[in-house]
Amino acid sequence: MTNFATIDQVDVKNKRVLLRADLNVPMKDGKVEDATRIERLAPTIAELADKGGRVVVLSHFGRPKGKPDPEESLKPLVPALQRALGDRPVHFAGDCVGPEADRAVEALKPGEILLLENTRFHKGEEANDTDFAKALAKLGDIYVNDAFSAAHRAHASTEGVAHLLPAYAGRLMQAELEALNRALGAPEHPVAAIVGGAKVSTKLELLQHLLDKVDFLIIGGAMANTLLLAEGIAVGKSLAEHDMIDVARDLLRSTNTQGRVVVLPIDAVVASELKAGVATQTVAVDRVPPHQMIFDVGPRTVAAIETRLRECRTLVWNGPLGAFETEPFDRGTIAVARAAALLTRAGKLASIAGGGDTVAALAAAGVTGDMTYVSTAGGAFLEWLEGRILPGVAALAR
Ligand code: 3PG
Repeated sequence: MTNFATIDQVDVKNKRVLLRADLNVPMKDGKVEDATRIERLAPTIAELADKGGRVVVLSHFGRPKGKPDPEESLKPLVPALQRALGDRPVHFAGDCVGPEADRAVEALKPGEILLLENTRFHKGEEANDTDFAKALAKLGDIYVNDAFSAAHRAHASTEGVAHLLPAYAGRLMQAELEALNRALGAPEHPVAAIVGGAKVSTKLELLQHLLDKVDFLIIGGAMANTLLLAEGIAVGKSLAEHDMIDVARDLLRSTNTQGRVVVLPIDAVVASELKAGVATQTVAVDRVPPHQMIFDVGPRTVAAIETRLRECRTLVWNGPLGAFETEPFDRGTIAVARAAALLTRAGKLASIAGGGDTVAALAAAGVTGDMTYVSTAGGAFLEWLEGRILPGVAALAR
């Protein structure tokens, strides 16, 4: 695992702490729809403020392409941030660099919190421009990065500034890195990975990397259809990538030589269309009627996955097993989520999950709190599963 310093290694009293957060949360009509990221960040802010730091929070929001856009202002997030902090006041400055930011930081007393406007209102952010990074660095005595979910971006506020100030991981960043290390860095074996999603093509690197790391690779979602085709199993009209069949076949062949076990669906829930309440049938995967489509794994597959999970000590999960947003095709994912949660609660399994759909599926199954760790990251979690170096994490390396 990357060696990094945490906020245990610095006395923040009276210091200006430039804290990179990820406040890129879903908003609707000016209100936060899901405050998970804010709630998971709040303890770092509270700790820094309680220790007498002058906390200057930086974040991006949306993709405003380097110019101010009132629709993507961070200002509407102030009430949600205050709420997550137990109603502590949060000041706001309408720019993240320049005179307005300078004045707001100058006025900040120890223990106070300031949120600066969206870093992506400046072109220098995404360009990782040195002058822009210097302008940000001017606002802090130290830099704390708590935005693991933005660590796959080599931007000025996630990467550049880390080289200009003493840099530390915040509590959320620390928790994410420790959990990920437990999942794939130095895991307890046997390790299972569950990977779902629509396409082999978008998760090919991830599958290849996981095959080097895990003992069981459990595949669901529409991507499993492409692998079934590669095994010579017709899947009716199911979504599949016909141009990826050779690649899928190579992947399966390499697992055999490496002694890894790939777990593919053995039965499936099929229907003529993806619609809530549509008539369904459960069939063996080699019995999918020609005009039907696979939308979920069947109960025998769920039982087979449960058996594998009982043999494992570690689980890493990314992607639902079926079209879980449409009932009843959520059943396979929910059943497996509950099985993983039970094993985790019993202390038999360390379960680490991440990615937007996965997090939503775990919430739908009511088991978020039972997993060992649920990442706040989407794209960063995927890139990490692909074995990539995340620039925001690498910049914290000691
Ligand atoms: C995310 O929500 O995954 C992060 O905030 C990164 O956002 P981005 O994909 O716009 O860089």
